[in-house]
Amino acid sequence: MVNRDTLKTAYEEELRLFEELHPTSKAHFEKAKDSLLLGVPLNWMVRYAGGFPLSVQDAKGAHITDADGIDYIDFCLGDTGSMVGHGPEAAAEVIAKQAYRGASFMLPTEDAAWNGRELQRRFGVKFWQFSTSATDANRFAIRLARQITKRPKVLVFNWCYHGTVDETIATLFEGGHVGSRTGNIGPQVDPALTTKVVEWNDAEALEEALKDRDVAVVMAEPVMTNIGIVHPLPGYHEALRALTRKYGAYLLLDETHTLCAGVGGYTREHRLEPDIVVCGKTLASGIPVGAYGFTEEFGSKAKAELDSLYGLVKGIGGTLAANAITMAAMRATLSKILTQEFYDVNIPKAARFNQGVEHAIREYELPWSTTQLGNRTEYWFVPHAAKNGTEAVNHRDFELDWYMHLYCLNRGILMTPFHNMAIMATATTEADVDKHTEVFREAVSKIVD
Ligand SMILES: Cc1ncc(COP(=O)(O)O)c(C=O)c1O
Repeated sequence: MVNRDTLKTAYEEELRLFEELHPTSKAHFEKAKDSLLLGVPLNWMVRYAGGFPLSVQDAKGAHITDADGIDYIDFCLGDTGSMVGHGPEAAAEVIAKQAYRGASFMLPTEDAAWNGRELQRRFGVKFWQFSTSATDANRFAIRLARQITKRPKVLVFNWCYHGTVDETIATLFEGGHVGSRTGNIGPQVDPALTTKVVEWNDAEALEEALKDRDVAVVMAEPVMTNIGIVHPLPGYHEALRALTRKYGAYLLLDETHTLCAGVGGYTREHRLEPDIVVCGKTLASGIPVGAYGFTEEFGSKAKAELDSLYGLVKGIGGTLAANAITMAAMRATLSKILTQEFYDVNIPKAARFNQGVEHAIREYELPWSTTQLGNRTEYWFVPHAAKNGTEAVNHRDFELDWYMHLYCLNRGILMTPFHNMAIMATATTEADVDKHTEVFREAVSKIVD
């Protein structure tokens, strides 16, 4: 078992080591406090294990070098933004070329239509639109769904994440009351007015919530990933599709993270039939992007609405969305990098990662477990996977999280912050994976009785 006193002491030791190893990152952080709120470009970056973030000098493939010259195996890969690896040549060359030929025109390039056709082929939905982020794609899809259905509400799953979309930053409180998720900055106008929330994998609760026929769109990651990987139970997707159809709500599957499951995400792998698909991040090798696509039925209704509003359409936009660099980067990524081969090569590495972790778990007889989704994997400090968001939240163990992250970081391994998740890129080697196994085992050995 984990000895909590030993864990505390070991963590403090790791904190001291982190400071000692990263004087330049620390200096950059301190200097940035002059111009950046909290010393970071995005407020949550102060929450990295160690108390300040690494200052990145360089990155290539599956490795990052920090300002102190330390090399890391990067299993975070920009939380999928760089799932294809850092600086992949096929995309980097195209991005550089396009930068010389112009970036942003408020006019389409031919690459946009190519990308539309390719996304159509992958996800099986007909019409596509682009945005600057997956957050925006979700926001715009919600707008269209409300416009078409004339219904006010969105339904999401407890502890979901779909970007910084007000309607989705809502959780269930005592008595089934919907409120703003604790810690939501603002917070937004009471989400009970805009949002229904139910637990993932609970078909009965979903039906109850849809019965009022006031939900325009049900939004789901086909597998929850942002509260840790929470798989659908057998039959849940069938229920989700049948119930949304029965009560006239559109079904949006947000594949932004689950694109790790295959070329057409979890949707294609499992032959799902969403009305709307949202994607982003990975699609353009780290260049900001969002995409949302929908069925012919949804598209023809959206077109009729847009036609009737001609000249008045507001609320869907983004000047830099679908700019020429993003579209060129996406075309290169989809045609040359994020291919079937990418998944064939990288999914086995995720399995190897999990096998290594499980071996150490067994060796130390810990009640821990692992889960995998495509080339993405994670470990939990409980024996069984969660079946919904609430269970996943209750399974969190921040003391262990911080310690494991920091122990890895101090030995040249970057895990995804806020959960113990690792992503495999083509440049990730088996030696990289095995190094994690070794460090994981060593970290565990220091805190068990
Ligand atoms: C499922 C899902 N949707 C949307 C987003 C938002 O992506 P972005 O931050 O690129 O807008 C995220 C971000 O993590 C996500 O996990």
